[in-house]
Amino acid sequence: MCHNCAATAGPALGAGTVPSRRSIAKLLAVGAGLTALAACTPPDGGTQPPSSSSATGTSASPAAVSESAGSETPTAAATQPGTVAAPAPATTSAPTPTSPAAGLAKQHSLTDPASPWLVVNKHRPLSPADYVPADLVQPNVALAVSGEAAQLNSTTAAAAEQMFAAAAEDGVTITLASGYRSYGTQVATYNSYVASRGQAEADTASARPGFSEHQTGWSFDIGDGGGACSFQPCFADQPAAVWAKANGHRFGFVVRYPWMLHEITGYYYESWHLRFIGVEAATDMAARGISTLEEYFGLEAAPGYL
Ligand code: DAL
Ligand code: ZN
Repeated sequence: MCHNCAATAGPALGAGTVPSRRSIAKLLAVGAGLTALAACTPPDGGTQPPSSSSATGTSASPAAVSESAGSETPTAAATQPGTVAAPAPATTSAPTPTSPAAGLAKQHSLTDPASPWLVVNKHRPLSPADYVPADLVQPNVALAVSGEAAQLNSTTAAAAEQMFAAAAEDGVTITLASGYRSYGTQVATYNSYVASRGQAEADTASARPGFSEHQTGWSFDIGDGGGACSFQPCFADQPAAVWAKANGHRFGFVVRYPWMLHEITGYYYESWHLRFIGVEAATDMAARGISTLEEYFGLEAAPGYL
């Protein structure tokens, strides 16, 4: 299960966020046994996160935080659209002045769901919670899904078409495995995770409704047309994921939930989840060796819900 953890985790981890050898060892140990959970993977395409015990040791681990979520139960959060017990929308609407992103000539909002620099995480819910992109389209790429899941916002769709075509020219097949998800779909997705794995593990792999990038049209999950490793840890070693990780920035994409940075992003490694932020920013992140949007835009880590 250990893919390329050192290369991914190294440069972006601050001194206070480097995982201990013990926590890494636990992650590796449980990973071997997670294949058995594949049959439980919700149709959305979930990951196989380490068990909740794998991230113990700090109060900031996703599992630990979810245990103290108080009244924000998955039932309340996920079954009553419009009544999500979400914190107030984030007020940080621009990169902090000292952040790497502040140096780019063109700046974008970090809070507007229609902005390519929107940062949505466990501390930064979508506003409005039931946001729907105005420009959803179906990209002209190989599809592994249909309906709303085959849609992206128009900017992301155009970039995806270019990226998938470039991959194909390199002999790499990439498919669109899960794109846009409405608030209502995220309700079902999150509830499915909770039902199969419990809330603690669900919160390491699936965003609560109103907290998912998929609802913005800026993100999508990729497959490779094969399927054996779809949404599984071993996908990171497949040509599609390797190619996307190495080349995605040229088309404006980043791997949003990198290996071992869950204490910053709130989610375990999703080698299939790509996020459009624009070519300039994605290329700058790659050049600087910065792997998370939180670090690039100078935002606080979001390991758990507030
Ligand atoms: N799997 C990602 C975190 C989502 O549900 O949006
Ligand atoms: Zn995803």
